[in-house]
Amino acid sequence: MFRKISTLTLLALSFSSLLASACGSAAEADADPDVELESVGSSSSALTGQDRLTACAKDPRVVAGLVSARICAGGDIFARETFGGNGRTCTSCHPIGHNTTLDGPFVNALFAQNPNDPLFVFMNDPALAGLESQNGLFSFGNVLENVDGFEDPTHKFILRSVPHTLGLSQTISADPTDPKATVPPGERTGWGGDGAPGDGSLRAFLQGAIKQHYTKTLTREVGVDFREATPLELDLTNEFQRSLGRTRELDLNQVNLSDPIANLGRQVFLDPNKGRCNFCHLNAGANFQDTGKGRNFDTEIRTSPAVGDIGVLADGTPVFDGGFGGINLAQPNMAGLSADPNVGDKNAFGNGTFNTPSLIEAADTGPFFHNHASFLGSEIENAVFFYIDPSGFGRSEAAKDMLPRFPSPIAFTPDEGNAIGRFLRALNVAFNLDLAKQRLSAARTLFTRSGASSAAIQVGLLRLADAELNDALTVLSHAPVQPFYPVSVDQIGLARTEIANAIAAPASSRGGSISNAVSRVETARSPIGANINYNLGSGNLLF
Ligand code: HEC
Ligand code: HEC
Repeated sequence: MFRKISTLTLLALSFSSLLASACGSAAEADADPDVELESVGSSSSALTGQDRLTACAKDPRVVAGLVSARICAGGDIFARETFGGNGRTCTSCHPIGHNTTLDGPFVNALFAQNPNDPLFVFMNDPALAGLESQNGLFSFGNVLENVDGFEDPTHKFILRSVPHTLGLSQTISADPTDPKATVPPGERTGWGGDGAPGDGSLRAFLQGAIKQHYTKTLTREVGVDFREATPLELDLTNEFQRSLGRTRELDLNQVNLSDPIANLGRQVFLDPNKGRCNFCHLNAGANFQDTGKGRNFDTEIRTSPAVGDIGVLADGTPVFDGGFGGINLAQPNMAGLSADPNVGDKNAFGNGTFNTPSLIEAADTGPFFHNHASFLGSEIENAVFFYIDPSGFGRSEAAKDMLPRFPSPIAFTPDEGNAIGRFLRALNVAFNLDLAKQRLSAARTLFTRSGASSAAIQVGLLRLADAELNDALTVLSHAPVQPFYPVSVDQIGLARTEIANAIAAPASSRGGSISNAVSRVETARSPIGANINYNLGSGNLLF
């Protein structure tokens, strides 16, 4: 029904903030005209957190007051630190120029561009053959996770999609009154909500990611296969991640979309007798309506396992994803493929519930859900209609649990469902335009203050801004009903031309084109609607 998103902009810029004038070489991919590839790579280093802080003090973005040295250093760790492991960095799976997430087309384009990218280390190193499911990664961008314990990593595993890491400051607070998920873990990280080791915080999540993804062998011996992060590195990366994406929640009762169908979608989203989305995704975010904090739910989506290899225990029992809990249990405790987790063959570890994600960032980060639900498409409307599918959300534990409070199921017409999709597209387009403007404005500030000496960072910011504009155009043009914000579509196209001109111009004379691009983005943004204020974090300026 909906066209799959084929346009993607791939940006994994590899120049170091430590070397303000160093820049990776750019290369265009000509195999697929829809795929624009920029320089790809990563660099290992033996720098300490303090080394990075010292170097960041001289970063033009820090000198100009656009970002703090701590956030700069955290961003540098995220993009470049390998922790003595297999060469991967956080941006191997959370690429800044691709909304910090992976999908199948992106993975395939990256492989065509650079088969030696550390993301693919499992294909080149026999000791790491069991680190990933090649089929899962290439078909849907799904990644192997030993979320229920590392004791038998090639048998006891599941595959999950890579969540973006945008807006984390607003999405990970744990609701202590959640009947389904306990506290601790103190913060709801990852799709299960219990992704982080130790105290379960975002700060500790880094340590778990290193052990899962960076290791040189599946023995995962600390000091041999990788090194652990130091307390300073944990602090810096934590602060950086909290400054990515937006740093504020919307108030959907105040928001007004000037596209009438999108605004109808907002009302259906809020209406407890129709979409009821706001009950779990308060203000299109990740929090529960009654408490403003994150809760876990079993939406039933788990009964369609992620595409790729399936773990099989020694006794032949397959392993499916049970979400929250279940860590270090010897035997599966729930029926992973059954809508009722207590009925059927026990083949999953957990309680069947998953962490609610934010929807503002969703429209350009499909496919959706923890399994990149392969039976749905990549368009946001596909995910919306899952909620009125009687053999989908309709039969879920979450739907049953809502019964006393809402006696009738979630119900909306096809037009209303498409209106919800249009509403989520509009919120995402506004977010993309704000990110583009933030990066363009920073490039203009750097041009004014330091001219050609910060040229490489300016170009990096311009490319990242362009990636957001490209996303905005895709989200607008894939709406089932056209036209959709036609003035914005025109202005975004003009802004992209100005960005191309700015990148092509000599470093000493690109200021005019950058200013023109900022004006075009402002003109594109103003018709979207009123009271859509995301308050973006300064981490968006790092890469
Ligand atoms: C090989 C791919 C891969 C690499 C490398 C990787 N991640 Fe992830 N990341 C994932 C997957 C898959 C998930 C979902 C895990 C889950 O559900 O528990 C995830 C989840 C996350 C989350 C949770 C986001 C949320 O909304 O709750 C954070 C934070 C995160 N990663 C940070 C990092 C950091 C920091 C690094 C670098 C140390 C890193 N990741 C490296 C694949 C990766
Ligand atoms: C009972 C709570 C609940 C309700 C009601 C609810 N959701 Fe969700 N939503 C969730 C949870 C939990 C997830 C994550 C499920 C998973 O991946 O296992 C989710 C995931 C999503 C995703 C995927 C986001 C991504 O980045 O992958 C979309 C889109 C979504 N919901 C849209 C909606 C819409 C639209 C509505 C209203 C029609 C709605 N939700 C109602 C709890 C809810």
